[in-house]
Amino acid sequence: MPHTLGLIGSGMIGSSIARLAISAGLEVVLSNSRGPETLADLVADLGGGARAATPAAAARAADLVVAAIPLTAHQQLPTEALAGKTVIDTANYYPERDGHLPELDTGALTSSALLQRYLADAHVVKAFNNITPHQLRSLARPVDAPDRSGLPIAADNAEARAEAIRLLDVLGYDAVDIGTLAVSWRSEPNTPVYIQPYLGDIPAMDVEAFLRWTGRTPGIAVPATRVAELIESAVRRPAGEARLPSAD
Ligand SMILES: NC(=O)c1ccc[n+]([C@@H]2O[C@H](COP(=O)([O-])OP(=O)(O)OC[C@H]3O[C@@H](n4cnc5c(N)ncnc54)[C@H](OP(=O)(O)O)[C@@H]3O)[C@@H](O)[C@H]2O)c1
Repeated sequence: MPHTLGLIGSGMIGSSIARLAISAGLEVVLSNSRGPETLADLVADLGGGARAATPAAAARAADLVVAAIPLTAHQQLPTEALAGKTVIDTANYYPERDGHLPELDTGALTSSALLQRYLADAHVVKAFNNITPHQLRSLARPVDAPDRSGLPIAADNAEARAEAIRLLDVLGYDAVDIGTLAVSWRSEPNTPVYIQPYLGDIPAMDVEAFLRWTGRTPGIAVPATRVAELIESAVRRPAGEARLPSAD
């Protein structure tokens, strides 16, 4: 189990992972783009095991790093500080939000494979991208709880995959290994395992209303066996067609 988790990005997903990590007894080093001082309230709220630093300092301090930032910020990640580390990538590609990236639109690369190409000296793992922040917190359960959920992970490096599986376990989830980064499209937007199973029926609404609604919705446990079935049933669609879930 990692002792210190570094968060690059401490927004909705990053802070949810940080909360689970603190509950599990890990040390957490948070970071964002605006500087550690802007994270003082979150650090205070999380309690003794949390502190804030720059992204490079968070990366250096950590046994394991989570990059919970927009895909458009990936090229600002501190490559040197991340060399040799496992980096869990939570990002999703929505061209209407992120702009069009040709390698992703054509399916030549998945978004995490693109990140791996940029972070050539780190080991990228795709995880936490297919669940909304509130449900990530509300559905976490101890080992052997009958209503424990599964979450997909994908990785090219075996050791990094094993580290991520251990992290998911201590945070309250069974990891479902879906294979390499090249097949991580199976958990991306527009696939059966993406967000909806953990939410149930999603009413039509705009983005802000959708985020408020997910915060009021307890969520639905999705066992690892069901996650594996949903992953298996995925059909690849052009990533360039991905629409934000609430924009339907
Ligand atoms: N929200 C969801 O439902 C959800 C679910 C699954 C996956 N995801 C994915 O997870 C990622 C994070 O989403 P989110 O909803 O947590 O976003 P968010 O609430 O907007 O938080 C983004 C975080 O990234 C930080 N950041 C931005 N650019 C950075 C940089 N260059 N260096 C360091 N930190 C930087 C921001 O810091 P500042 O505020 O200081 O700029 C902020 O802390 C996205 O890729 C998203 O697609 C989101």
